[in-house]
Amino acid sequence: MALENFDIPAFLRDDWQRQPRLFRKAFPAFTNPLEPDELAGLACEEGVESRLIFQDGEKLRMENGPLAEARFATLGAQPWTLLVQAVDQHAPDVADLIEPFRFIPDWRIDDVMVSYASDGGGVGPHFDQYDVFLVQGLGRRRWRVGPRCDDTTPLRPHEDLRLLEGFEPTGDFVLEPGDMLYVPPGFAHDGVAVGDDCMTYSIGFRAPSRHDLIEGWSEELLSRENDDDRYADPGLPAQDHPGEIAASALDDLHRMVTESLQDREAFARWFGCHNTTPKYADQDWRPEEPVTEDEVREGLEEGLALYRNPASRFAFVARGGDALWLFADGTCFEASGASAELAKHICAGGAIEPDPMVVDQPEAITLIAALCNQGSLAFEDED
Ligand code: SIN
Ligand code: CO
Repeated sequence: MALENFDIPAFLRDDWQRQPRLFRKAFPAFTNPLEPDELAGLACEEGVESRLIFQDGEKLRMENGPLAEARFATLGAQPWTLLVQAVDQHAPDVADLIEPFRFIPDWRIDDVMVSYASDGGGVGPHFDQYDVFLVQGLGRRRWRVGPRCDDTTPLRPHEDLRLLEGFEPTGDFVLEPGDMLYVPPGFAHDGVAVGDDCMTYSIGFRAPSRHDLIEGWSEELLSRENDDDRYADPGLPAQDHPGEIAASALDDLHRMVTESLQDREAFARWFGCHNTTPKYADQDWRPEEPVTEDEVREGLEEGLALYRNPASRFAFVARGGDALWLFADGTCFEASGASAELAKHICAGGAIEPDPMVVDQPEAITLIAALCNQGSLAFEDED
């Protein structure tokens, strides 16, 4: 499915991260990729993150999944909604919904959350930390959007939900299947099902917080810091007051910290690993017996395609010349020449049909074997 009635350069210039925007008929011939029953089934599975939000008198309540199958029959006439995270990892047709949004780099894309709501169901007015494209899949939903919020915006007291106290909408639209609403981080929004059988697909993005970056990068540095690497002061100047921590000492101390933090190359390598570490590691594709390099050659000679584990994350960082670092599920692989080409091919997604020449490239064979053995790739079934 391709995006239509959507101008990518204009969107990036005017809307991305700036303002909510409604796109009518973004997918004019939208076919709903998942049945409501299939979504309910996923919400009952262990290892799938889901939430049920329902109206209980005046109050919205939340229950975390996995849900018991019998739970749905007890919901009755009160409005309710079910939200399931990372459905793209379980339903290939839902994963295909990400493809049209890859004008934003993969490392910024998080997952596709799918919601189902009965008439009047919704999660209440709120704001999120991330950009989202809300694609209407089935039925109708009324979306109201409001101003940008921040951590000073008043919230209603609630133990589970961060609902806005005073929501003053600036836009109000009813979305039909194939219509899409873009909401940047921080903007208030509230979607309510109009009629039963309302399904919404949220293509969600991620943006690391400064806190997470500092925490992760400094943990990485600490894991390799050597305790013998200490402050030293040969040529210590005599100082007037023994109680003073001299400016020159502080400069040296500060430099010890900033020099490590500023290692751009090591940072890039750490970030690639950090960013590609899977959030949900429930799809274990690791083979029972390790795949050998001979088996990789045989698979390639037979013309078998390679597939990416839908839960896997891939990215690369160019290193000058034809060299790059390939990141797959938190591991870094150095590649150049033919194996770098292969790495880019893997990062492009879809079924991977390596160039037949790859059979004669030992580095590329080693790379494929390693990726298969860590469960990031697998050959298609021979039968
Ligand atoms: C949301 O606004 O984040 C929830 C989307 C939905 O109800 O589908
Ligand atoms: Co939201």
